[in-house]
Parts: sequence; structure tokens; C-alpha cells
Amino acid sequence: MSKKLYIKTWGCQMNVYDSKKMADVLAPLGYASTEEPADADLMILNTCHIREKATEKVFSDLGRLRNHKEAKADKGEKALIAVAGCVAQAEGSVIMDRANYVDMVFGPQTYHLLPEMIMKATGGKRVVNTDFPPESKFDNLPEASATQGASAFLSVQEGCDKFCTFCVVPYTRGAEFSRPAAQVLDEARKMVDQGAREITLLGQNVNAYHGAGADGATVDLASLIAELASINGLARIRYTTSHPNDMSDALLDAHGSIEKLMPFLHLPVQSGSDRILERMNRKHTAAHYVDIIARLKQKRPDIALSSDFIVGFPGETDDDHKATMELVRTIGFSSCYSFKYSPRPGTPGAAMGGMIPEHTKDARLQELQALLFAQQLSFNQTFTGKTVPVLFDRKGDRDGQLMGKSPWMQSVYVIAPQRLLGEITDVNIEKAFQNGMSGSIVTISADSTPSEKREAA
Ligand code: SAH
Ligand code: SF4
Ligand code: F3S
Repeated sequence: MSKKLYIKTWGCQMNVYDSKKMADVLAPLGYASTEEPADADLMILNTCHIREKATEKVFSDLGRLRNHKEAKADKGEKALIAVAGCVAQAEGSVIMDRANYVDMVFGPQTYHLLPEMIMKATGGKRVVNTDFPPESKFDNLPEASATQGASAFLSVQEGCDKFCTFCVVPYTRGAEFSRPAAQVLDEARKMVDQGAREITLLGQNVNAYHGAGADGATVDLASLIAELASINGLARIRYTTSHPNDMSDALLDAHGSIEKLMPFLHLPVQSGSDRILERMNRKHTAAHYVDIIARLKQKRPDIALSSDFIVGFPGETDDDHKATMELVRTIGFSSCYSFKYSPRPGTPGAAMGGMIPEHTKDARLQELQALLFAQQLSFNQTFTGKTVPVLFDRKGDRDGQLMGKSPWMQSVYVIAPQRLLGEITDVNIEKAFQNGMSGSIVTISADSTPSEKREAA
């Protein structure tokens, strides 16, 4: 009998990839996905621990799932509730104690063990698994399936050894680990066979990738991208997220020489103040960041840049904040994420002196975001009147609308025939907004070369 699986995903793209893998592991057990928790026999929350807000949401959502579980029980049916992801890893037993209706709590490195864990839980045992098992889950998870769409995520590196003082990731994801290159290439080929046109390589520190290659050699991210680029049918390659200290010369060169590598880089800097960067344990200066970007632009002049910022890290003065604003003006970003510092239990930052009051964080965030949003809008405005190739990977909110991404990672909305879903098509950009652009499909005349061919060439 077919069972229903509901998964809700928070956090980074790696969680999106992981959720997909969990669904793939469970499919052979008869679980089909549903968007409706009330219908589900198994409800999984795939959680994020990065900021306090993200963590709080888990508990409010659990309350709702509990109602569904009880409603099912009233009908004599059984439903299981599971918490996965980074909150599960960090707070496994706390969740079990706080919510006695939760059946399973398991961390990101245990997803290949899901079938066994479900069997135990179905038998009435509560399961907690926050181990870092000796075997790699990547050796034991199923391969790409047809449901990933035209734009696919592929985890190649997981975990982090950098220990930035604000961050929980080294604790929730464990030590840095790179998948063997052949395994990655194999999964990429299967994704392309299943219809992927774009692959985004994922890792907490993806540019520190150093996977085992053939004959004991080590493959770095630049070589991995070069190998991926030879896969026919794959048109676009991206990678995220990177650390400035791992932007090797080879990787900068790849941006200049590999056409399929898209002209967009998300390179978190967090702060423009050297004093704060040091307190964050980022191990580089603002000048170093500016230098990387300058060298990158020499290789790929049209590259669009994105970053993450934290305002109000302990000890941040007005001058430190001004330095961040200055860095943003110097670089000019096409998009950015910015956050108020959120002290995370167990991280060095949470124990530092000089906590910044909430209203100061608010004011700094507002000032920073005003600048970042203005930069984003003016970046998008430079595209009006131009033609850009768009990979349509989903339906838009409006009837007959498709949504896709430009090479520079902008969202593009177009009224277009549904058959273009999964295709790369030229779009005339007519309007630019802060969050994206809209336009119309370029009608291809008989003598023109479709952009799809140009891009794949
Ligand atoms: N691996 C990436 C970042 C992963 S977390 C890197 O090295 O940059 C994603 C972003 O969340 C971070 O870049 C940071 O800007 C933000 N973040 C992480 N911890 C945070 C905290 N305690 N408070 C606020 N923002 C945080
Ligand atoms: Fe967190 Fe720093 Fe590692 Fe990024 S590099 S995941 S911010 S510890
Ligand atoms: Fe969140 Fe874990 Fe990703 S804390 S950002 S889901 S690595």
C-alpha cells in the first residue's frame, strides 16, 4: 500500500538536496510525496539551526504536526513525526524531552539509515540518531531521480573546519568531507540524463573541495568543474557557498576559461572591518576580499557578485559598521543576504563581551539593506533592453507565467508557453525590479542560433 510522506525544508540549499535524498530513500519503501501534512503517514521537518529564529520555527511547526498525528490516531491510523537537519543534530535529546509526540530525531549524516530508523519507530520505539557514522551516507544514498527538474543541486562537500566564531555549522554538519570525484561526476551525468540543464555544486565550503580522483590523485573544485563542463547536455554550472580563503588561482582562472561556469559568485564576507573579521575568526582582511574580487573581474569582467553580511557582531562599533558600508560601495553587489547577529549556544561568539543592543542591530541592518537593495536594483536596471538567456525551471505565480534564472542569477518572469519549462530561451528584458526582471520571449527567426546551442557550445 502506498504511504504518504510530507517533508518541510528550512535553511540552505544543502537541506533542499538532503530532503530530496530522503524522499528518494523512502520511495522504494512505498512512500509518495505529499504537500499536505494532514494526509501524511510520515512527517519530516528538515531543520536549520543557523539563527535563533530558524530554530524557534521548528517548535511552532511541531505543534501543528502533533494535531495531524492526533487526528489520524482518532481515526485509528498511525502517523510518525520526525525532526531532521541541523536542529536535530544540535538539540536531539532536547527535542525528545520537549515534545514527547516526536517519534524520530536524526542528524544530517544519518539519512541513509532512514529505513531502519522508520522500522524501529513503527515498532513503537523513539529513535534519536545524532551520530557521525563511519560509513559515508553518500556511498549509501540512491542516485539522481527524475524529480529534480532542470536546475539541480548536487552536494560535493559537506561539513566545515573553519569555526567562524558566530557559526553552528561545524558542530551540526561535522568535519569537512569531500565526495570522490568519480561519484560526483556519475551523479551529475545521471542528473543530466534526467533533464537537468544546470547543476549547482553544493558544500558548506565548496571551494575547499578536494575529492579523491583516479590513482590516488586529489581533485580540486576547479578541475571538478572542468570535468563537469565536458558533460554533453549540461549547459550551466554554479557552486555555493565559498570562503574567501579558498578562492584559489585555479578557481579564478576557471571563471575566465570555462564557459559553462556561470558569471555569478556568492562569496560571503560577513563584515568590512578587519577588527570584526578577526573576532569572527574569518582569517582574512577586507583588503584581501577586495583583491580577490579585482582578480576575478580581470578573468570574467561581467561577473555578478553576491555575499552574506552579519551586522551587530559582539564588539561592532559604528566605525566597524561604516567599514562594512564602505566595502559594499567598493565592490557593488548584484544581490546579498544580510542578517542581525544571533548568538548561538556553544559558539565562541555567544560568550564574547560587547553584545550589541537590538535597536542598534536593527538600525545597522536597515542602513546596510537600503544600500544593498539599491545596488541590486541598479544592477538589474542595466539589463533593460538587453537579451538574456533564461533557464526556465518553474512556473510563475501568475497564470501562463514561467520563471527562470539569467546567467547572473537574476530571477526572470515571462508569460511563456509551458513547453519552455526546462529550456534555455532568449528573453528581451523589459522591466527591472529589485528582486528580478520581466520581459518577453525572443521569437527565433530561421537564421539565428538559439542561445541554448551557444551556451552549450
Ligand atoms: N559556509 C558559508 C556560510 C554558511 S551560513 C560561509 O562560509 O560563509 C550562511 C550565512 O548565515 C553566513 O554566511 C552568515 O552570514 C549567516 N550566519 C551564520 N551564523 C549566523 C549567526 N549566528 N547570526 C547571524 N547570521 C549568521
Ligand atoms: Fe560557518 Fe564559517 Fe564554516 Fe561558513 S566557513 S560554515 S560561516 S564556520
Ligand atoms: Fe542551516 Fe544547517 Fe544549512 S544550520 S544553513 S541547514 S548547514
